[in-house]
Amino acid sequence: MGICDGRVVIVTGAGRGLGRAHALAFAAEGAKVVVNDLGVGLDGRPGPDSPAAQVVDEIRAAGGEAVAHGGDIATGEGAASLVETAIDEFGRLDTLVNNAGFLRDRMLVNLDEDDWDAVMRVHVKGHFLPLKHAAAHWRAASKAGREVTARVINTTSGAGLLGSVGQGNYAAAKAGIVGLTLVAAAEMGRYGVQVNAIAPAARTRMTEEVFGGLEGAPEDVSPLVVWLGSAASAGVTGRVFEAEGGRITVMEGWQPGPTANRDGRWTPAEAGDTTLKLLADSRDPRPVYGAS
Ligand SMILES: NC(=O)c1ccc[n+]([C@@H]2O[C@H](COP(=O)([O-])OP(=O)(O)OC[C@H]3O[C@@H](n4cnc5c(N)ncnc54)[C@H](O)[C@@H]3O)[C@@H](O)[C@H]2O)c1
Repeated sequence: MGICDGRVVIVTGAGRGLGRAHALAFAAEGAKVVVNDLGVGLDGRPGPDSPAAQVVDEIRAAGGEAVAHGGDIATGEGAASLVETAIDEFGRLDTLVNNAGFLRDRMLVNLDEDDWDAVMRVHVKGHFLPLKHAAAHWRAASKAGREVTARVINTTSGAGLLGSVGQGNYAAAKAGIVGLTLVAAAEMGRYGVQVNAIAPAARTRMTEEVFGGLEGAPEDVSPLVVWLGSAASAGVTGRVFEAEGGRITVMEGWQPGPTANRDGRWTPAEAGDTTLKLLADSRDPRPVYGAS
């Protein structure tokens, strides 16, 4: 018995890296998996192949069930056909793992508008569109009286939580995914849908090129994703987790710190004096990745 027996799971960007590890781990726990990958290069430009079919072959060779989807998840057509593939092939959808993405790292002064747009598009729109189509399916199922135990796992990053020098576009996109996760969890809970985000760290082609390789393997991150994507995670929603190697951390987000209030309006000088006092009483922020 696996903890995802009978569940149907979509993983975007599952041809390699973290997505591939998640797809294999879900299949090993009994899930039927839609393996999406457009097969692009590290910078999102067209690549030589779509590695989704290889992952499907691996799952089938191990006795599991899987189907490939080669569409672009940041297009309406790609996202709609992704959800349709799960329903047409396996008759249902239970879990969506939004994972696909790429980098175009530059210092802000050198960051081209195209590199901004491409990274915002693949991460923010590439999370929103599959989520929207899956959410429409689950809301309809819930309204039709069917029991829905649906799960969404979004992929943010330490860059989105703390900032990362040279990754202004990526950090903004990944922070946007946290906001999307919070709203989706609040809106979709009534239909039986739980939405959480992970900030993974693992050795993949993405981190090999940027950070010279990390210690943890993608397979180390997948068990948390599989549990969040299973019925066993009931009651857990709207949360962000860091996962690297054998470590799982609950991230505690923005909280109100020291505050001052007055009747009437501050002058700018008064606002400044007050703010400096509040800052003196507040906790120092965590350092931005890569800041000296
Ligand atoms: N590796 C890490 O340490 C790390 C850290 C923080 C966040 N992340 C995030 O985890 C996710 C996976 O990263 P990875 O390291 O496995 O990268 P990766 O490059 O190994 O895999 C990403 C996959 O997404 C696919 N893809 C890209 N754009 C797509 C699109 N429009 N439609 C469908 N597929 C598309 C690519 O073809 C690729 O196979 C990304 O969202 C990344 O930002 C990774």
